[in-house]
Amino acid sequence: MRILITGATGSVGRNVVEQLIALDPAVELRALTRNLAADLPEGVEIAVGDLAEPQTLAEAFTGVDAVHFINFAGDQYAPLPEADAVVALAEAAGVRRATVLGGRDEGALEQALVKSPIETTFLHPVEFMSNALMWWAETIKSGQPIREPFGDRLSAMVHPADIGAVAAKVLLDGGYDGQELVITGPEVVSIPDRFRALSAAVGREIEFVELTVEEAHENWAANGMGEDMIAFLTEALGNTPEEGKTVSGTVEAVTGRPARTFEQWAVEHADAFR
Ligand SMILES: NC(=O)c1ccc[n+]([C@@H]2O[C@H](COP(=O)([O-])OP(=O)(O)OC[C@H]3O[C@@H](n4cnc5c(N)ncnc54)[C@H](OP(=O)(O)O)[C@@H]3O)[C@@H](O)[C@H]2O)c1
Repeated sequence: MRILITGATGSVGRNVVEQLIALDPAVELRALTRNLAADLPEGVEIAVGDLAEPQTLAEAFTGVDAVHFINFAGDQYAPLPEADAVVALAEAAGVRRATVLGGRDEGALEQALVKSPIETTFLHPVEFMSNALMWWAETIKSGQPIREPFGDRLSAMVHPADIGAVAAKVLLDGGYDGQELVITGPEVVSIPDRFRALSAAVGREIEFVELTVEEAHENWAANGMGEDMIAFLTEALGNTPEEGKTVSGTVEAVTGRPARTFEQWAVEHADAFR
């Protein structure tokens, strides 16, 4: 069996690759990237291509049985401009099964897959534990407190390795055709829970200072964040949907093992905060 992983150099795709290798070391893996020099595990074939330019993808799909898809192109997560053409290429190459990483904007890729004969499973992870790397690592390393709004928010946040583990199991064994799988961690975590776990992992107290929404908007804008992203973050953090703060049990149901905790994630990544 040969599996193509798109977004393979990203925080989720990298874990899809690792979990596929762990589950079935004999499976043939091909990673789609725009960068020929991408750093991927040994034995993973690299296919250079751009999801925004379907004419660059023909070789990537050749001989592939299953695909893990991202639904965006570019670093701002814009929806795929020619999703129908991408799915048509996959279908023509004989792809039988797909998983799709759900994101902020969904639409064209998902619709094209629903219309195709490709067995598709829609993965809907909630907030990634790994966001702490992007949002907090530099500030914590410099010894500054974390300043954010919504100090009372709750999240059933998920370890990216568990998103990878669910995707890997579905890609290899199927069984979830047409289903949407909401993927969460094993517990609902508060802001104080996060800082307790990170402080314990890093070995010193990390301070949290709650900002008003207006103060946060000023900070985000001063750091170059666009209006769209500010609106998205305000809604996602300030008005988290029930789904984002409810444990789904998908990881255990699909993989047979419990979902990883934030404490575990914090210990694994402590060096990035020291
Ligand atoms: N962060 C969260 O809490 C959260 C929660 C739920 C859902 N999500 C969703 O997760 C997705 C982001 O996943 P991630 O964090 O794994 O991404 P990421 O770490 O930002 O990596 C982006 C990946 O997309 C690839 N890529 C981007 N444009 C491409 C293009 N035109 N053609 C081919 N590949 C392209 C990149 O590949 P190369 O650079 O190697 O070409 C890279 O592997 C978004 O849809 C987001 O909405 C995020």
